[in-house]
Amino acid sequence: MHGVRTGPAERTVTRSARPGGRGLEPLEGTVGAALDEGGRSLARARVESPRLTAELLLARVLEIDRVGVLTHPEAPLTERAAAEFGRLLRRAAEGEPLAYVTGRREFYGVPLEVTPDVLIPRPETEILVERALALAARATARFVDVGTGSGAIAISFAVFSPRSSGWATDVSRQALGVARRNAAAAGAAGRIAFAAGDLLGFFAERPAFDLVLANPPYISAPEAASLPRAVAAYEPAVALIAGDSGLEIFRRLIPQAATRLRPDGLLLLEVGMGQADPVAGLACAAGLRVEEIARDLQGIPRCVASRKLDL
Ligand SMILES: C[S@@+](CC[C@H](N)C(=O)[O-])C[C@H]1O[C@@H](n2cnc3c(N)ncnc32)[C@H](O)[C@@H]1O
Repeated sequence: MHGVRTGPAERTVTRSARPGGRGLEPLEGTVGAALDEGGRSLARARVESPRLTAELLLARVLEIDRVGVLTHPEAPLTERAAAEFGRLLRRAAEGEPLAYVTGRREFYGVPLEVTPDVLIPRPETEILVERALALAARATARFVDVGTGSGAIAISFAVFSPRSSGWATDVSRQALGVARRNAAAAGAAGRIAFAAGDLLGFFAERPAFDLVLANPPYISAPEAASLPRAVAAYEPAVALIAGDSGLEIFRRLIPQAATRLRPDGLLLLEVGMGQADPVAGLACAAGLRVEEIARDLQGIPRCVASRKLDL
């Protein structure tokens, strides 16, 4: 366990006497004591699920999983690990999202690095990947993920469709750096190429893709004013906001996708609340046939799938 005392060079935090203790109260300077104190400090800061958050932060510091932290409360903590845990606790207490504090988030079972340059992948976006895997007509799909951010959609699709290959694009070069590292870590780097640019502008206007996948920015500028602080203060605005109506990116992306999809190819778009109908309308106007609108776990229409007709 990195950070837990492993040898004479690492000093542990001083232990204090424990009144009458026989394993009930964790000793100061141990994993258990750090968790108790960390959980209490996060609770005072009104962080959601404070104990769980403290466990995940300490697991990150020690580079072990949460179960490892929970099963060894008696393990001594080095000064260095305790100090690092303190730094992470302070960031969480200030309201920074856990994924940015730990630098990690799992998406569709794939572990991803996340930095403040990328949107934290959301569970509802897994629906898009699930539908893409279910609806793709061929096992050797050529795909493009527009606005890839951390690479969540492109990488998870590639991992679960191991004979497919394609592209991931983003306007943010910093995001593309994160996505590249994530693709390499997932063993999918050889099947995903990366391009910086606006939507599908990098690609010629000819049918080259079986799947166009996108979770684009879709929050309107007026809505952005009421975003939770954890989102507005920490996540990149370019990943969230799409003009005055929230539909601006869809208006440009859908006709671009229609010209680049092969016959029978699919466009899958994540949409915000109340956007499924207007987005379906844009898809029809671009000559696509709306095939399905999938709902998220809250019953909100979340993913619009439309197919290019095979004329
Ligand atoms: C909502 S985030 C989605 C990130 C990732 N696909 C996911 O689902 O977690 C939108 C992404 O689109 C990118 N983006 C915004 N405007 C863009 C544009 N005009 N062309 C390409 N990418 C864009 C942002 O940088 C951001 O990474």
